[in-house]
Amino acid sequence: MKYGYFDDVNREYVIDRPDTPTPWVNYLGSPEYGAIISNNAGGYSFAKSGANGRILRYVFNNFDQPGRYIYLRDDDNQDFWSASWQPVGKDLKDYISKCHHGLGYTKMVADYAGIHSEATYYVPKGKSYEVWAIEVTNTSDKERHLTLTGYAEFTNHSNYEQDQVNLQYSLFISRTAFQENRIVQQIHGNLNALEEDEQVDEKNVTERFFGLAGNPVSSFCGDKKAFLGRYNGYDKPLGVTSGDLGDTNNYNENPCGALASKVTLAPNESKTLVFLLGEKYSNEAQAIVDSYKDAKTTVQAEVDELRAEWGGRLESLQVKTPSPVFDTMINTWNAYNCYMTFIWSRAASLIYCGLRNGYGYRDTVQDIQGIIHLAPEMAVDKIRFMLSAQVDNGGGLPLVKFTHNPGHVDTPDDASYVQETGHPAYRADDALWLFPTVYKYIAETGNTAFLDEVIPYANKGEATVYDHLKAAIQFSMDNLGPHGMPAGLHADWNDCLRLGAQGESSFVALQYYYALSILKIFAKQKADTEYMTFLDSEQESMGEKIQELCWDDDRFVRGYTEAGERIGEACAPEANMWLNPQSWAVISGLADDRQAELAMDNVFNRLNTSYGAILMDPPYHKHAFDGALAVIYNQGNKENAGIFSQSQGWLILAEALRGKGERAFTYFMENAPAAQNDQADIRQLEPYCYGQFTEGPASPNHGHSHVHWLTGTASTVMVGCVEGILGLRPDLDGLKLAPAIPKDWDSFKMDKNFRGKELHITVENPNHKESGFSKLILNGQELPEAYLPEDLLLDQNEITLVL
Ligand code: GLC
Repeated sequence: MKYGYFDDVNREYVIDRPDTPTPWVNYLGSPEYGAIISNNAGGYSFAKSGANGRILRYVFNNFDQPGRYIYLRDDDNQDFWSASWQPVGKDLKDYISKCHHGLGYTKMVADYAGIHSEATYYVPKGKSYEVWAIEVTNTSDKERHLTLTGYAEFTNHSNYEQDQVNLQYSLFISRTAFQENRIVQQIHGNLNALEEDEQVDEKNVTERFFGLAGNPVSSFCGDKKAFLGRYNGYDKPLGVTSGDLGDTNNYNENPCGALASKVTLAPNESKTLVFLLGEKYSNEAQAIVDSYKDAKTTVQAEVDELRAEWGGRLESLQVKTPSPVFDTMINTWNAYNCYMTFIWSRAASLIYCGLRNGYGYRDTVQDIQGIIHLAPEMAVDKIRFMLSAQVDNGGGLPLVKFTHNPGHVDTPDDASYVQETGHPAYRADDALWLFPTVYKYIAETGNTAFLDEVIPYANKGEATVYDHLKAAIQFSMDNLGPHGMPAGLHADWNDCLRLGAQGESSFVALQYYYALSILKIFAKQKADTEYMTFLDSEQESMGEKIQELCWDDDRFVRGYTEAGERIGEACAPEANMWLNPQSWAVISGLADDRQAELAMDNVFNRLNTSYGAILMDPPYHKHAFDGALAVIYNQGNKENAGIFSQSQGWLILAEALRGKGERAFTYFMENAPAAQNDQADIRQLEPYCYGQFTEGPASPNHGHSHVHWLTGTASTVMVGCVEGILGLRPDLDGLKLAPAIPKDWDSFKMDKNFRGKELHITVENPNHKESGFSKLILNGQELPEAYLPEDLLLDQNEITLVL
């Protein structure tokens, strides 16, 4: 079943059947002011924090309500509907709708009873309020008299939990007033008599507004109960059915912003109204509302500005391949998804409420990788930030608080940190993610000077980036298990593996092995010869250990428990084959060709499904060891043999590194949302963004995907596609080209900005290979290998690579 389609020219996903299996959402705004909006206008808004700055209420586990509702009422016959299909939910035979999710805006188009409406929702560039602009057109042949009503459900408290559960308090602190053309909501309004510098219990008056521009307000309501009427839902609020909001204000219980406006339209006549919402004090709020007097022109200019801004952010890599699915993901939607994880981390979605008030270390360092090829300077700011969240013992802070103060924060070694964050100990992998991320940035930009930049540690002291990386190596060396492999500590990448100080993780060992390779490149660059010698011998001995301890005939095992048992051995009754050690054995460069082939074939045969490869098999049920937390999940879900989509990105990369383009592309397609546009009833997930996992064959819902948008899948699959399938592999001196593609691709094109130079690359595949090299021509000159040295590049470059 299909619910929509990709409009690649406008970079929109257009939902033309509004009864999607789950709410399909878009992100608006920035961390200053963020908003999530579904195809039925459900979702919430917040200032700075999803948990502590919540402005609009949204109730989780309660199918997509409330939302940013605009009701339309025909005053001649009292019929009414909404600008989005829900909440009124007219019969889809009579109500035609299209929801356009674009980059930074969402537009709901509806046709019903001879009225065409277009409601555009966005946060203007650089602003901290939101706009709901609605243009209504009379497409019938008689004059029409309409009432348009906007409804915003304010929270009673900026803290999401207080609003939802602490009702004995939160129901008695809110009130509204009406001023000119807006509802003003105050929380703790009774504090307004205090002097400016006075505070009680560190509280202030919080003020929100919901205003209208473009047409006069005919009636208003600030009280939710009065708006809905007793026992009514959002589908038939009294304020709408009666055509009059009653000019009611709120004092206690639940406030809202509801504004009605009367519009008379001759045939073919249109009118634009703009609802404005934000958290601002009166003067500023009024100025914002006043600035939309010229409603239509202002809205058009602001939406154009957003489109231009987003278009610009995607420009640095655009591809044209024989696969429309691949193109739409790489050119637009996977890239947009990467920006969203980069910006929002795991802080705000219809799954994450924002209460995890900080950045997960590994998640954030991984997220950065997804935008390095598009916006390296934006990326490096976050890299600096994450280096400043590395403790001077070399480990990463498991959770970096939003209030992070480099050089001065507490760590998992302090009771205060553990109490505040709930993270009791270091995780083995966190700081090791810095290696590929820092390398990708330096290779993309050539900025080797970054290695010498001095950055504070989280707790105390400072060091160059190079020394930060050395400290990360030291952290692993200081935390080895009994066999001499890195200990698993509180977790490795897999949050459900608690291997402790005595258990050992092969995944971390492989990451460590890989980190040593990267550090060797930097050490060479810095002519740090003594350290190079150390790295060589350390890598050799770790490599031998991994080979000896972890290779099990046709697979790498997952590690050792604290009791010394091997995890993931062929003979184990459960979880005897794991995905990540196989792909990482290839990515890290540890596996020899024979091992790589055996292990990766084993993955393909044992773990792969039509929706991607499961994380391990069989799921834990009867034989979970103490640290095998995955057993808490239903089988086939999450870490318990679910298809953990991020791991699919490493599979793509690993197969591509081996030159196996067919496999790499197969893995891409199995997991690519855009490839499953016609399977929405199974997938459930938006066809334009990644989810954290898909249920595996051990579940009755095999194929159903969850935890949309904010997932490491976005960046990891992006890297798998860009470095793997497209084969764009920058190093310190230039760009290696090593595509691994389906054999039937005749050719494809890439436009890439590399260090300020434009590369127009055509890859030709006359002999239908899946990888390989026969010729490279740069600006008419043949080069000896598939490598573009930076010093040969001009401002504009025509490049042909023949496989
Ligand atoms: C979740 C976490 C991530 C972890 C993964 C696997 O996606 O956000 O940090 O690596 O689960 O457990």
